[in-house]
Amino acid sequence: MIDSPYEKIGGEETIGRLVDAFYARVMKHEDLIPIFPRDILPVRDKQFLFLTQFLGGPPLYSNAYGHPMLRARHMPHEITPKRAAAWLSCMREAMDEIGLAGEMRSFIEERLTMTAQHMVNRSDDEA
Ligand code: HEM
Repeated sequence: MIDSPYEKIGGEETIGRLVDAFYARVMKHEDLIPIFPRDILPVRDKQFLFLTQFLGGPPLYSNAYGHPMLRARHMPHEITPKRAAAWLSCMREAMDEIGLAGEMRSFIEERLTMTAQHMVNRSDDEA
């Protein structure tokens, strides 16, 4: 069987380090602070479950919360192009920090970039 991206990057351990490094940055980013709750742990845990299944690991998010419907779940939050860029910059820096490199890094970065663009639901001047 061919390994999934999840297995190739080191599974649970790597995704855990990635979400920790990522939300530490999100909570310090001036464009993102206003839309995230102060208690980031529940969001971090959901993202851990989501990224696990997004990268071909066990379907932990769907088992817990049902179909992801990510765009719909983001609709109550003002996701502007500026915030999508901020989200992606935190994610790239988190990947740098944990040393995620090579072919899998490019693949994951590309898929997250497409997904982040798809989450945009307001223009910059609506937020
Ligand atoms: C939840 C912001 C992109 C996955 C959230 C929440 C916010 C947010 C504010 C709600 C936090 C709360 O519970 O109060 C953003 C912004 C993005 C973005 C600004 C920039 C484009 C993404 C992407 C993914 C993602 C690309 C997936 C790869 C999730 C997940 C949740 C979530 C899984 C939890 C949903 C739930 O079950 O409630 N996001 N997000 N987000 N986001 Fe994003």
